[in-house]
This record gives sequence, structure tokens and C-alpha cells, in this order.
Amino acid sequence: MTRVRDRVCVVTGAARGIGLGIAKAFLDEGAKVWICDINASQLTQTLSDLADSERLGGSVTDVTSRADCQAMFNQVVAKWERVDVLVNNAGGGKACAFLDVDDDFWAREIALNLSGVFICGQIGARLMVAQGDGGSIINIGSTNGLYGQAGMAPYGAAKAGVINLSKSMALELGEYGIRVNALCPGTILSGGEYDDPDNPTLTLLRSHTAVNRLGRVEDIAAAAVYLASDDSTFMSGHAMVVDGGATSRQLLLNATPEFQQQASSRYTVTTAVPEEPRSSQ
Ligand SMILES: NC(=O)c1ccc[n+]([C@@H]2O[C@H](COP(=O)([O-])OP(=O)(O)OC[C@H]3O[C@@H](n4cnc5c(N)ncnc54)[C@H](O)[C@@H]3O)[C@@H](O)[C@H]2O)c1
Repeated sequence: MTRVRDRVCVVTGAARGIGLGIAKAFLDEGAKVWICDINASQLTQTLSDLADSERLGGSVTDVTSRADCQAMFNQVVAKWERVDVLVNNAGGGKACAFLDVDDDFWAREIALNLSGVFICGQIGARLMVAQGDGGSIINIGSTNGLYGQAGMAPYGAAKAGVINLSKSMALELGEYGIRVNALCPGTILSGGEYDDPDNPTLTLLRSHTAVNRLGRVEDIAAAAVYLASDDSTFMSGHAMVVDGGATSRQLLLNATPEFQQQASSRYTVTTAVPEEPRSSQ
């Protein structure tokens, strides 16, 4: 497979999880892949597992540090002379009740999930502009950036910022042939977990989807290959949701109980019917 053959792709936070899945898919598609991560031991293990010295490089990089990110891009350019694709994947959210979020917690969530995308995105975009032949930047958002979730306010706010930042970047960088898209996963079993049918939390999350399964890193990796490749040259400023249909279900949750009752007599509805009618939106 050759959809990103010989392209130089940088994937942040790629020592494990979704980032690693994307890096593997890029390698399978013939790319040269640089992975970075803040976790040095995990990165060393992953580089050794992937074992491709020709088309693989890596660095211990904290995406919240401009000095680290600049040093990483310097290394990439020293090795392969250019950058064609950047996937801003490093991120992750911790739960905390809104009333308990302190300034340090807020700042950490925003730094990792939003400022890291800005810093790497800006350095990567400047390189692509100087190269003069375009590129693709993929910012990993989340469906949390599209709706609220109790306990996840800072993460959701940061991911909503990633989606909006991607649109503005797309508008400003389009004239240089650089496309920028946000890729928004739903619930992904990013640690390779077994989608245990007896696990109540996984069962609830699975019931939110339309396809009755949770996501796999390969689902996100396939979307990333598409956004990195020439298959998507007319796509920029888009927030691509890959969630098995889970966000589509919000409409049903906001319907009246009467409608839900009618619907449930015709279909199997797996979400709870609210006790009280909700105000229309
Ligand atoms: N897993 C999901 O269900 C899900 C859903 C929506 C969005 N996402 C997003 O997908 C991305 C990857 O998630 P994942 O589930 O693979 O997470 P993960 O925790 O498995 O992997 C994240 C990686 O990022 C690295 N990292 C953390 N801070 C870093 C920093 N400052 N600099 C560089 N690397 C850093 C970690 O060491 C880790 O290797 C994140 O942006 C996350 O918000 C995940």
C-alpha cells in the first residue's frame, strides 16, 4: 500500500495508543515516520518493536515545550530534509468536577490538549510553508469537543479549541497548499482492551454507538491515512468524527419521552428514557 509513500510524517504522543496505531498505518503505507513522546521508556520500547531504521525515527519530546518541539523538527529535517504530514495526537483528559478544578489543573489540560497542538502546528506549518509544496496537518480532537460531559470541562474545552483552531489554520494555510483537519474519535479502546460484554461501563458506552461496538486504534488510523493522502485533497477545515455514530444519538436523547416510546415500540432503543420532558433545543 502506497497512499503516503515516501512522505515524511510526524506523529506526536505515538509511543502507544492511537498515535502508535497511526504511525504503524503510515509505515504500512510507505511513509517515513517520526514518532515522539514524553514517556522515554515507552518510546524506546516502541522504536525497538517497530524496528525500521530506514523509515523510522523518534525523540523524547514534550509537546507543551516550544524548545522541545523545535528540537524535534530540527532532527526530522536533519534526517529527511522535510515534513509532509503532521499528526498532533499527544493528549488525554483527566476527570475533575468543575467546582473543584483549580488553576493548575485547568492550565495542564489546556497546555497538553490545546497549546501542544498550537506549538507543534505552528512550527510544522512554518516548515511546510518554507518547503513551498503544501502538506497535511491532522489535529486529533475528540467528540468531547462537540458536546459537554460532566467531569470533563477542561478537556472538552481544550478539544473544542482544537476543532476551532483547525478551521482557522485551514483558512490561513490553504494558500500554501496546506490542509488542516481535526479528527475526532469517539470512545476508542486505545490500550488494546478487550471489549468485554460483561463490563457495565463498556456496555453503556457501546450502547451509545450505532454500530454496537467500541472503536479501535485502526479505525482512527484509517481516517488519518485518508486525511494524510491525496484521497482527501478537497478536504480542509473539517472536523471528521469517527465514533460509530455515537454523537448522532444526541438527537434521540433530546426527543420527547412520547417520541421515544413510539420509537422503542418499533426499534430496540438502548438508551434510557428521561423521566421528564426535556426542553427543545
Ligand atoms: N482513547 C479514546 O477513547 C480517545 C477518544 C477521543 C480522543 N482521544 C484523543 O486521542 C489522542 C490519543 O489518545 P490515546 O487514547 O491513544 O491516549 P494514550 O494515553 O494511550 O496515549 C497518549 C500518548 O501521549 C503521550 N503524551 C502525554 N503527554 C505528552 C506530552 N506532553 N508530549 C508528548 N507526548 C505526550 C503519552 O505518553 C502517551 O504515549 C489524545 O489526543 C486523546 O485526547 C482519545
